Amino acid sequence: MSIAAPEPKANMGQPVPRYDAVAKVTGMAKYAADMPLANPAYAYLVTSAIAKGRIDSFELTEARNIRGVIDIVTHENAEKLKDVKLFSEGGYMSTTVQPLKSADVAHDGQIIAVVLADTFEAGREAAHRVKVNYRPATPSTTFDSPGTTSGPAKGQASRFKEDPKVGDFAKAFDEAEVKITASYETPTQHHNPMELFATSCVWTGDNLTIYEPSQYVYGLKNGVAAQLGIDADKVRVINYYVGGAFGSKGSTTPRTAIMASLARRLNRPVKLVPTRDQGFTIATYRAETRHQIQIGANRDGKLVALRHEGAEVSSRPDAYVVGGTKTTTRLYACPNVDSLVSIVHADRNTPGFMRSPPEVPYLFALESAMDELAVKLNMDPIELRRVNDTMKEPIGGKPYTSRSLMACFDEGARAFGWSQRSAAPKSMTDGDWLVGYGCATTCYPTQMAPAAARVRLQRDGRVRVEIAGHEIGNGAYTVIGQAAAEKLGVPFENVSVHIGDSDLPPAPVAGGSNSTASTCSAVMMVCDQIRQRLFRALMPNESVIDKAKETVGMGQTPVAESANSGRPLDREKAFDALGVSVVEEYGEWKPEDAPKDSFRAMQQGQVRIVGGSAMSDKIAYAFGAEFVEVRIDKWTHEIRIPRLVGAFAAGHIMNPRTARSQLMGGLIWGMSSALLEATELDPRYGRYVNDNLADYLLPVNADVQDVEVIMLSEQDDHINPAGVKGLGELANVGTNAAVCNAIFHATGQRIRKLPVRLENLEV
Ligand code: MOS
Repeated sequence: MSIAAPEPKANMGQPVPRYDAVAKVTGMAKYAADMPLANPAYAYLVTSAIAKGRIDSFELTEARNIRGVIDIVTHENAEKLKDVKLFSEGGYMSTTVQPLKSADVAHDGQIIAVVLADTFEAGREAAHRVKVNYRPATPSTTFDSPGTTSGPAKGQASRFKEDPKVGDFAKAFDEAEVKITASYETPTQHHNPMELFATSCVWTGDNLTIYEPSQYVYGLKNGVAAQLGIDADKVRVINYYVGGAFGSKGSTTPRTAIMASLARRLNRPVKLVPTRDQGFTIATYRAETRHQIQIGANRDGKLVALRHEGAEVSSRPDAYVVGGTKTTTRLYACPNVDSLVSIVHADRNTPGFMRSPPEVPYLFALESAMDELAVKLNMDPIELRRVNDTMKEPIGGKPYTSRSLMACFDEGARAFGWSQRSAAPKSMTDGDWLVGYGCATTCYPTQMAPAAARVRLQRDGRVRVEIAGHEIGNGAYTVIGQAAAEKLGVPFENVSVHIGDSDLPPAPVAGGSNSTASTCSAVMMVCDQIRQRLFRALMPNESVIDKAKETVGMGQTPVAESANSGRPLDREKAFDALGVSVVEEYGEWKPEDAPKDSFRAMQQGQVRIVGGSAMSDKIAYAFGAEFVEVRIDKWTHEIRIPRLVGAFAAGHIMNPRTARSQLMGGLIWGMSSALLEATELDPRYGRYVNDNLADYLLPVNADVQDVEVIMLSEQDDHINPAGVKGLGELANVGTNAAVCNAIFHATGQRIRKLPVRLENLEV
């Protein structure tokens, strides 16, 4: 097998090529803006040039005179849409700032007008000729800006945040033999998926079809229906492919209902393709954060006290918070823990999910501090993790369902050659290069959510699977197809997979790395229903259900005995016994611990996600260990990363090829986050100044050298029927710290603020 398709180890599926590979490399894959529309009007957004204040008036004559302009819509003539709650407050929205509702401006880059035109170019031309008279106020835009307000998260947002505490931190820290107190900062970052935030809206009578890249077609359908005040059954969202999302397409942004409203008014399809820079403010981003970590330890390295205080920037109206202390306080054994997360409300657009939202900033702080502690103890950083490894999280004493952290460190260390490292900072050089080796823990919660599927099996062995999952580049088509093929005992090529359409049975948001676990568990359950019917037809006297109960885990719908025994099924005979040519089953699956209203909520586009640290009697995480070699030119301070090694364990790996790709992408993003990525804010104006792909620094091929992904074999029977721990967000978590730890080793300089740029180095 090739490197790209690693040989499966125990408890791994086959590395089949991507289901959508040919469609993608031949350009046949249709993204939202590729969908053909009959005579569309083109929408072009006008966005605010101030971050706070009011619009006094518009001067539109010049813009209206551009040939091809149909209309210009502002708060003065737009339909007033209904207010809908924030996604994390139990609603659908990415922000509660509803543009075109009033003359108020809440953030820079807010949508303040929409030009409708017969061509994109006319719309753009007119948009640039719209004159706006503002009454600006002084915005308060980030940490330390006078006029921001700070406080704990309130209301529903607190569901996403917890301030875990156990024991007596103050006393234990006071008495500890070795202490670390350090502060860390992470910047604003934007996802910048290749595919822009396009939306097309088409009405057919009372029915609305939306073509939009979304990580959650059921959420978008219900969110837009709520804003328009129409029945959700009238709305259909289609996106067969999503050109990258990373969290930015998980919640409903205000643009969609605006486009739907305009299409209804015009009685004509409306197509919007916003610009790259508009994407920085009409969608979400990763908020800047600050942290203080205090660790007290014994001389042998055992932690006795840990405190993690975090602060995050959000918008003025919305209490969006990621609250990663729920993870950092549970990662290592420690009897005395304290934590606190607060929100700083500023005049900004509302931030949102971005790949590993809580873990990326919060583990940067913790894993940097662990390295600082190792240095202070004169201890190998891997040994420090080993001493504090635990199978029970310290806050509630709940057992990890499985935890292969130290196995990951051991395998990763071997592959990386960690034993070649000389411990003292600045002790390894190669000519003009200062060489540093660093490592860090990575982890991500194992999450699952209710999902439904419909599966059809034909007598000839062809299979059709329907589930409103999302192909965001993650390999969803492929692993869903594999789940059905394996369960039904047919070749992968026999399976046609249908996702990305809200007319299909509901799946959860493709977020929180829950997709594979949730959709594959649902599809496997429905395939078992089919097998059960076939076995009943063949063996009407055998008690299938009774035997099934023995093999049922997680309080699931009974799975046919046949399904898990691997007993071959004579499909054609079974169909003949049934006297049919097609068997079709629909089923709704929910994880253990999912609340009673799960299936109703699922139909309404509201996720009841469970797992991670929030389960009643256990805790489930995927783990990994990341290793970085950094080289710093002692004259120019140029920073190079010749090697990245990540070793990961994430339960059943559905497909080692797509999994490796996900993990590799995560490592590369992690490196990018450490060294390059920051959205630069002009605090005077609340404006993102590098809002394009030239100035927002991203790695190019020359920045990415050897990247090695190691997948460990791990079996976990306590998470979901698929045995899957999500890994989409696993690899980019620990990298920030691993890079900074390597830089410390190379230079003796501790970097506590991201990203690290050569001008920050003092060597
Ligand atoms: Mo991910 S940030 O949960 O889409």
